[in-house]
Amino acid sequence: MDERTHNAQAKREQIIEDLTKAIVDAAQPHIDPSTPREEIDKRAKEITERLQFESNIALSELVTRFSRIKPATEQPAQERTYIRFGRNFRAQHMLMFMSVILLILTGMPLKFPEFGISKFMIVTVFGGLQNSTLIHRIAAVGLIIVGVWHVGYIAFSRMGRRDFWLMIPRPHDAKDFFHTLMYYLGRKPSGPKFGRFSFIEKFDYWAVYWGMVVMIGSGLILWFKEMFNKGLFDIAREAHSDEGLLATLAIIIWHFYNVHFNPEVFPMSWVWWNGKLTESQLKHHHPLEYAEIINAERKEVELRAEKQSTGAESES
Ligand code: HEM
Repeated sequence: MDERTHNAQAKREQIIEDLTKAIVDAAQPHIDPSTPREEIDKRAKEITERLQFESNIALSELVTRFSRIKPATEQPAQERTYIRFGRNFRAQHMLMFMSVILLILTGMPLKFPEFGISKFMIVTVFGGLQNSTLIHRIAAVGLIIVGVWHVGYIAFSRMGRRDFWLMIPRPHDAKDFFHTLMYYLGRKPSGPKFGRFSFIEKFDYWAVYWGMVVMIGSGLILWFKEMFNKGLFDIAREAHSDEGLLATLAIIIWHFYNVHFNPEVFPMSWVWWNGKLTESQLKHHHPLEYAEIINAERKEVELRAEKQSTGAESES
């Protein structure tokens, strides 16, 4: 780090410190005097961290966009977009949702045959019980393919391995969950900052894959019942029927809310189709991932600038 950069960094840290102090001082006359000092110090530390985070991003954005040397990324005329999901993953998701929609439409009428809508689905839409159970089996094969495909994707693709690793629940997810609750109850000024996957997305992922194991396992027992004893068949039928209803409700309530009906994304997030997020979407929904990307780009630009200047020095 050259002297100028070092001085600029020291100045920035000083300004952040002064600004935190100014904010706390401005708030002081309005704060309940019985508030413990440690509580205020804790909040002041949080303010410093927020200011540091934002100023770091702002610096990285300026460096990567307006670098003297060729920037790490070309400067697009429109807002930058980032690839969140590659083609392979999007294809898996498409096959999965087509299969699951068909499985729900052909499975639920079997669970609730007394409903008028069930008769309508089986008789009018699918043309009879034989067709509808055949479609259930065809869609089940689609789901099995997705399951095997996904395991292969995790094992053999770099992106699959990385995402699987990032999907593993960690202690900070529990923290983020309580932070979100506190935010919704008005006890925190803002929600938690998420990385590539929030605890909501992790829950979605594991619910789906755990659900798949149960549905495929129990479905195969129902399908090939002659190979299993009656006790196992009965357990499988109960598990299949109840987990099927749970999966249907989880999709309609949890997943549809998060990706369709949530006012922040309504009518839907198009990431399932084109795999892309705009810079502002990435910054808003996954600020820690955005910070990681933009700070890495800044490092790259700085490194190239350094190499260029040492190259120019040795030439002269
Ligand atoms: C999201 C996935 C799935 C849902 C929501 C679903 C739902 C259902 C429901 C509600 C039933 C009726 C159970 C009852 O009688 O109470 C059913 C039956 C059945 N399911 Fe599934 N299922 C799914 C996946 C699968 C899979 C992956 C397979 C096969 C591997 C499968 C095979 C069967 C079979 C064989 C039956 C018995 C009825 C028949 O003869 O078609 N299902 N399913």
